[in-house]
Amino acid sequence: MSSKTVVDGVYWISVNDRNKKLFEALWPLPNGISYNSYAVVGNDAVALIDAAPEEFLQDYINGVEEVVGDFSKVKYLVMNHLEPDHHGATPYILQKFSHIKVVTSVSASRFIHSLYKVPADRIFAVKDGDTLDLGGRRLRFIYAPWLHWPETMFTYLEGSGVLFSCDAFGAYGALENVFDDEVDLEYYLTEAKRYYANIVAKYGKNVLDALEKVKGMEIKIIAPSHGPIYRSNIGRILELYRKWATPEPDKHRALLVYGSMYGRTKRIAELVAGKLREIGFSVNTFDVSETHPSYILAELLDAYLLFVVYPTYEGGVFPYIHNLLNLLQSKDFGKGRVAAVINAHAWAPTSRQVVDALQKAGFRVLEPAVDAKALPDEKAIASMEKLFEAVKEL
Ligand code: FEO
Repeated sequence: MSSKTVVDGVYWISVNDRNKKLFEALWPLPNGISYNSYAVVGNDAVALIDAAPEEFLQDYINGVEEVVGDFSKVKYLVMNHLEPDHHGATPYILQKFSHIKVVTSVSASRFIHSLYKVPADRIFAVKDGDTLDLGGRRLRFIYAPWLHWPETMFTYLEGSGVLFSCDAFGAYGALENVFDDEVDLEYYLTEAKRYYANIVAKYGKNVLDALEKVKGMEIKIIAPSHGPIYRSNIGRILELYRKWATPEPDKHRALLVYGSMYGRTKRIAELVAGKLREIGFSVNTFDVSETHPSYILAELLDAYLLFVVYPTYEGGVFPYIHNLLNLLQSKDFGKGRVAAVINAHAWAPTSRQVVDALQKAGFRVLEPAVDAKALPDEKAIASMEKLFEAVKEL
């Protein structure tokens, strides 16, 4: 637990979880993660902006008391987003400090009970644009739905220009220092990209809507709930979010993913990589058995062509490819992108299943999808050549 002044009267209260290995039990955390909360201290009241996971309750309470003296000054707990990584501790805080009211969006107020059983008389539901006066400081609430749940909102501190954005602009990685100009920014931007690809990318349209909404606002600080606080590189993180949310990938970048049980399909993948480079693509290649899909999704943000080369496994699609396809579908990753498929098999062609999954994910899939024998015969080689003709046309 550590705290730091963000601007006069605004404090960062951070829980760093350096032991957690998987965020959402899905996404690797090589360097842990931070859960940032903030205390905004007005003349009449203190508001906390989001809180902490349940397992960090006491650390969090200590952190708040370190900056505001004691909890009796805290009148409001703003819940920008209800997910338990930010509010697992909240029911215990509300139980222990019965004077605190929860401030949250109307949408959140409709399902907060299902997560935390907050009594209705403790909830102050705010509409888009509503404000809350703390005495000399005023918070404004800006709805930003689907970043990354339906109820999410930003909180903006007028005058100081601090945008508390919760998950939006967040990054994996625990923090020693907090500001973008104090940390290894390139590392955290790489982790912000992976966080975006894993957590936020499904809602790209909503990201663009939110960016449009805050355009023209005076933003001096972006204070997300994970990762560093931006004060020197605000334009950069806003522009990266716009870029990641807009499916306009570089037409010359290809991502080649393959699975290979005995090295034979890998050899086909190597031939494909060479061919793509001959055509003029820059190619990033990943073995799905060695690289977690978290990283593959992040790389795919920049690629126009996804090339999938994989073996059949027990009459179906190679499991790690299957898993990647499920994620691509659930996250709508194919919009504005093209895919190509080569399946290697001994007795069960499965490319149709992969084509269907890619199409459901929004990709335009090039024809023909190739079902080759493990040692490709003339028919398969002709089919691959036809596929590369289609790639050349891109
Ligand atoms: Fe950091 Fe969607 O919770």
